[in-house]
Amino acid sequence: MPVLDWLGKEKVINHHLDVPFRFLDKKFSVGASENKIIHGDNLLALKSLLPEFAGRVKCIYIDPPYNTGNENWIYNDAVNDPQIRRWLGQVVGKEGEDLTRHDKWLCMMYPRLRLLQKLLSEDGAIFISIDDNEQANLKLICDEIFGANNFVAQVICRTSDNSNNDSKKFSLDHNSLLVYSKNVLWQPNKLLDADKQSHFKNPDNNPRGAYFDGNPLNSPNPRPNLRYEIESPTGFKIQPPTNGWRWSKETLAEKLSSGEIFFTADGKGIRRRTYLADMAGLPPSSLWVELEKTGSTRKAKNELKKIFPENKTADLFRTPKPTALIEYILRLATDKNSIVLDSFAGSGTTAHAVINLNAQDGGNRKFILIELNDYAESITAERVKRVGGEFNFYELGATLFDDDGFINAEVSREKIFDYVYFAETHKHYQPTDEENLLGVDDGIAYYFFDDEELNFDLLAKIRTRAAAYVIYAENCTLAETELDEFKITFKKIPRDILRL
Ligand SMILES: C[S@@+](CC[C@H](N)C(=O)[O-])C[C@H]1O[C@@H](n2cnc3c(N)ncnc32)[C@H](O)[C@@H]1O
Repeated sequence: MPVLDWLGKEKVINHHLDVPFRFLDKKFSVGASENKIIHGDNLLALKSLLPEFAGRVKCIYIDPPYNTGNENWIYNDAVNDPQIRRWLGQVVGKEGEDLTRHDKWLCMMYPRLRLLQKLLSEDGAIFISIDDNEQANLKLICDEIFGANNFVAQVICRTSDNSNNDSKKFSLDHNSLLVYSKNVLWQPNKLLDADKQSHFKNPDNNPRGAYFDGNPLNSPNPRPNLRYEIESPTGFKIQPPTNGWRWSKETLAEKLSSGEIFFTADGKGIRRRTYLADMAGLPPSSLWVELEKTGSTRKAKNELKKIFPENKTADLFRTPKPTALIEYILRLATDKNSIVLDSFAGSGTTAHAVINLNAQDGGNRKFILIELNDYAESITAERVKRVGGEFNFYELGATLFDDDGFINAEVSREKIFDYVYFAETHKHYQPTDEENLLGVDDGIAYYFFDDEELNFDLLAKIRTRAAAYVIYAENCTLAETELDEFKITFKKIPRDILRL
């Protein structure tokens, strides 16, 4: 498989593993829900989400900076390498075609996509909006990160409702959506869109309702064993298509007797009839050009103007996506209880789409948004609030470990307990009346004794009876045989705390 190389790639390939784990600090809540809006760099925020959400997000939509040369996105990840440090803090773009513009963008995207891939559930998919500035590069790194087998489609989305007649070359009226699944078995929900239904007609008032006679009868791949003649009631011998028929002789005979396949009036051909009423839905097209269905950039800006009527400047937010576009993605890729993530949230369109869809179908989808810019509160969260959404708003908090690798003194015990217990069991810590007990899971009791030594005095403090024990402490003076006898696994603080 061809693999893309760029300046700095080797430094970012495993960078997601070095990103320090930070706790999320809840700043305020609107209503009572599990939805989250996080203000901060998504590299850090995605890492913070790992303990709770790894493998649980059913649909990710992202709309990263397209790297047009006119945006002010900043490459400021803490990649500690002189080559990359030279680029730190440099604003990409404006100055014109900086030779490392694409390398920097790829360095920015790569570790974020690695984390997003970890968050995706086995039955999940990611949809990435992109234009021609980086589409080809993005495709290659996604093949690498998600697996080329998991490439689902490149959807062409019309974005503009009129062409730009001043364009010197082409009027660019579309962008792309790259779709990747976590697992090759993923399929989109099949929908019965109004435009697709229009293929089904009922010219002769068929009591079974509207139908379509044009579905293929030939095998998609050459199948010499499926090349057989069919004799019609008039005695005419119908020759097989080049690849052969779609079904064996026996199956075709069954379909003829059920009426799904029938002979044309002249007896010289066969047709296949599908009734709309029998269809659970139809596969989505890879061409999204109907603006009524998926909106346009102009529509998206107007939506935002209506939500923020007090804002008189045209530039409240320059690059919103239409809510209808993301609603359509959610209809294809979520069920009523899915978790939806957007780590380049901008004006919060994804949350708005989740709220709309839940209202339409009584769903309980949850959203997580991440936005770096300071407008995370004034625009992103404010929009969600104005359209009736409930959420908790977070800032990135302290790191779990300090620069020397010790547990950060600023972090509360409860947060440390939750992290350690979650890393061990994937369950959350609930305070108990036993001070150092993190919890009991699967017969194993987990204890955390900071600043203490694991010895017989400490064992005397343990009140919970369990089949086995995992005990975190600073040190251990019990012998291996004693640990074995009491079924204790000793874990040294901070060395043995799992790094996510
Ligand atoms: C193209 S806009 C997304 C627009 C969004 N889809 C909407 O409908 O409003 C990209 C957003 O990603 C944000 N962004 C860029 N880098 C980021 C990062 N490292 N972490 C979080 N957000 C980031 C930008 O501030 C910007 O708001």
